[in-house]
Amino acid sequence: MCGIVGHVGSEQAAPILLDGLRRLEYRGYDSAGVAIHSGGDIKLVRAVGKLKNLQAALEAAPVAGTVGIGHTRWATHGRPSEVNAHPHVAGPVAVVHNGIIENHLALRARLEQGGAKIVSDTDTEIVAHLVHEKVRQGADIESAVRLALGEMHGAYAIAVLSKNEPDRIIVAKSSSPLVLGIGEGAAYCGSDIPALLPYTRDMIFLEDGDMAVLTREGARITRVDGTKVDRPIKHIDWSPVMAEKAGYKHFMLKEIHEQPRAIEDTLRGRLDRENGDVHGHEIGLTEADAKAIRRIYLLACGTSHHAAMTGRYYLESIAKIPTTIELASEFRGRDPIIGEGDLVIAVSQSGETLDTLMAAREAKEKGAKVLAIANVIGSAIPRMADAAFYTHAGPEIGVASTKCFTTQLANLLMLSIWLGKRRGAVSDAQGRELVEGLAKLPVQMREVVLGTRQLVANLARRYRDARDVLFLGRGLSFPMALEGALKLKEISYVHAEGYAAGEMKHGPIALIDSAVPVIVLLPKDRWYDRTFSNLQEAKAREGQVIAIATEGDAAAHGVSQDVIEIPEVLEALTPFLTVLPLQLYSYYVADFKGTDVDQPRNLAKTVTVE
Ligand code: F6R
Repeated sequence: MCGIVGHVGSEQAAPILLDGLRRLEYRGYDSAGVAIHSGGDIKLVRAVGKLKNLQAALEAAPVAGTVGIGHTRWATHGRPSEVNAHPHVAGPVAVVHNGIIENHLALRARLEQGGAKIVSDTDTEIVAHLVHEKVRQGADIESAVRLALGEMHGAYAIAVLSKNEPDRIIVAKSSSPLVLGIGEGAAYCGSDIPALLPYTRDMIFLEDGDMAVLTREGARITRVDGTKVDRPIKHIDWSPVMAEKAGYKHFMLKEIHEQPRAIEDTLRGRLDRENGDVHGHEIGLTEADAKAIRRIYLLACGTSHHAAMTGRYYLESIAKIPTTIELASEFRGRDPIIGEGDLVIAVSQSGETLDTLMAAREAKEKGAKVLAIANVIGSAIPRMADAAFYTHAGPEIGVASTKCFTTQLANLLMLSIWLGKRRGAVSDAQGRELVEGLAKLPVQMREVVLGTRQLVANLARRYRDARDVLFLGRGLSFPMALEGALKLKEISYVHAEGYAAGEMKHGPIALIDSAVPVIVLLPKDRWYDRTFSNLQEAKAREGQVIAIATEGDAAAHGVSQDVIEIPEVLEALTPFLTVLPLQLYSYYVADFKGTDVDQPRNLAKTVTVE
């Protein structure tokens, strides 16, 4: 996990590094540090806890200098402490690192035998000592990093300074993300785009096995073996404001409200309203690919897995393709029978989730075609995939995913329409109905967010001390019930369960009593009558029933304590609306409880460990 950042230029490095780290704090926040060339030396400042502690340390003892590296940590090796915080220093060398060096124990033993004094529990300090060893043997810093990389196995994005060469930063990556930014007389590196956005929009995405020398003149990129490579500069059109809170108390609340815009951006240029179709040029599959698919496997984790579960309904009921859904972490190591003719769709907001990346890679090695649905351009999963169909949600900073989730639904639905049309499963009339329905969604989503938030906030206030909360739904509402429960658990630390409503009577119904809020997703769809019966069963056990129902549903009002209304839409589109009050509910409960909404305990935005 962890976030790294680096700057070489003519501006003071400390504020730029701190600002970059603030934008990367979602990747980890148990300690942070910077190393800056200053007065012929490298000055190191580190602090345990949130970034504000590092900021206070730098305010108390400012460090002048224009070249530096920084790090915000999510502990993997060694507990959160100042000695384990990055940067790590050995002799003239300072290193920040995101990833895991798999052979660090063997390297540590060898280096210690050679007299290295290793003071932390981290694998990163081993990298610093390894590079130092090469410098001591006479290598310049670029060659020293190159030689050290040759001895390391595992995942890394690193940035390295040497006291002896104060005009440069050496960076390298394998499996962990690293973006370079090219400015006027300045170069930057960072774990992702928002860290660099205020300074430049011209970015270079390194490939695994690349390294680069950053100087005021720009970036010189080579492979670790020394071969020169050209990586194109990409202009990123996210504005820095898109990465700010824009007046909302938390990023999560802002991102919930941004969903209509995110859906609009994700649909833009892709709907063919005239033909009731989807323009396929951004999907990356050919018509022949579409026709040849035998089976689809959806792979994802967490919230993206809930989007993928919804995607299975779309792919089966609209495109009529047999579809299997898998938790990426469970897919690997059980010898799945998969190969040519199978399409794997890897769904990942960050495009960096290691379980999803490794599962998709395994499927590709077995002969399946891989299509990535991701939000972060140039991230690892789309890069390894045969094709990438991006969501355009913009940067998502809150650790709890909201706008990326609904844009994933949009991509999965568009993909299903496109495949269904190519395979003769979707008629022009059905295509038109779905495409028209999608086009109306931004307005309807705005209506739901603005129209329900007060009621939802009141309910959250009323039930904020409930110990358990149940979410029930069938069919397309089942993944939303799971998502509602996950959101509540992760940001408010309240125990919550999402159930397929029909499963209640097989056990979980025993949990219900008058202290338990039961949130029932009850849109007008083919499952309505059966879900309605389950709602009544919950009410009969004195559960506090809250229904999310279609406008004007008098029956729902008749039996529920409270009803949150959504407009009537096509069945396939109900998840886009029912999930919104659930996101708001978890947000308000967390806010009333005073938890750290955007950076909940124990979590990180991008999970690059297995
Ligand atoms: C929950 C959440 C996580 C992610 C999961 C996968 O709100 O955000 O469950 O969905 O870690 O992440 P991505 O989508 O980046 O692969």
